[in-house]
Amino acid sequence: MNDTLVAASLLAADFSDMASGVKIAQDAGADWIHLDVMDGAFVPDITFGPKMVRDLRRHTALPLDTHLMIQNPERMVPSFIEAGADHITVHLESCVHLHRLLTSIKSSGIKAGVSIVPSSPVALLEQVLELVDIVLVMTVNPGFGGQSLIPSCLEKISLLRSIREEKGYHYLLEVDGGVNRKTAPAIRNAGADILISGSAFFASSNPSIEVLAFKGRTVV
Ligand code: DX5
Ligand code: ZN
Repeated sequence: MNDTLVAASLLAADFSDMASGVKIAQDAGADWIHLDVMDGAFVPDITFGPKMVRDLRRHTALPLDTHLMIQNPERMVPSFIEAGADHITVHLESCVHLHRLLTSIKSSGIKAGVSIVPSSPVALLEQVLELVDIVLVMTVNPGFGGQSLIPSCLEKISLLRSIREEKGYHYLLEVDGGVNRKTAPAIRNAGADILISGSAFFASSNPSIEVLAFKGRTVV
């Protein structure tokens, strides 16, 4: 079985010093840097745009896992690609022509992801699962860090895992929201490949211990 990956979400880092947030993530052994882009419309809060991706690109070789919580993502996707994002994940709920957008992300040579909010069923993804590299299952309602994981969302991970095996698809399964040491074992058991963590990771006095715990390695 492949090692569980950990993506550190800079949403919980100090926005006045994001490069330090990247360094903390790297030094702790995080596998990916997760960037939450919020527009104040699809979700209540506002974070940052492509310039943040471009500037952080100079500070790390880790994959920049870019999660677009924005309306009409097709307008902004080319700018995020040009800025150096390695993965771009868009929401099913924000995009009518999802198939076209995911195809265009893939054709640019980077990984294409699709995300669903807690109220959306896996069935709505049926027509794009063959295409995508990542499925990001939100386990909180998107927009803020520090919320509690909604346990019923983990059933979607198990279902997506079965569909992947049955159909021979290749997508990786990411879980976003409420990941901490207590919830990580159930998330891994459900079949997640990547655990995203913001507040639990950055609030820790030793984030490298959190990474090991999220991966299910014994912490001594
Ligand atoms: C929430 C974001 C998450 C957020 C998770 O809308 O998509 O990536 O950083 O934060 P925690 O780990 O605090 O739940
Ligand atoms: Zn996110």
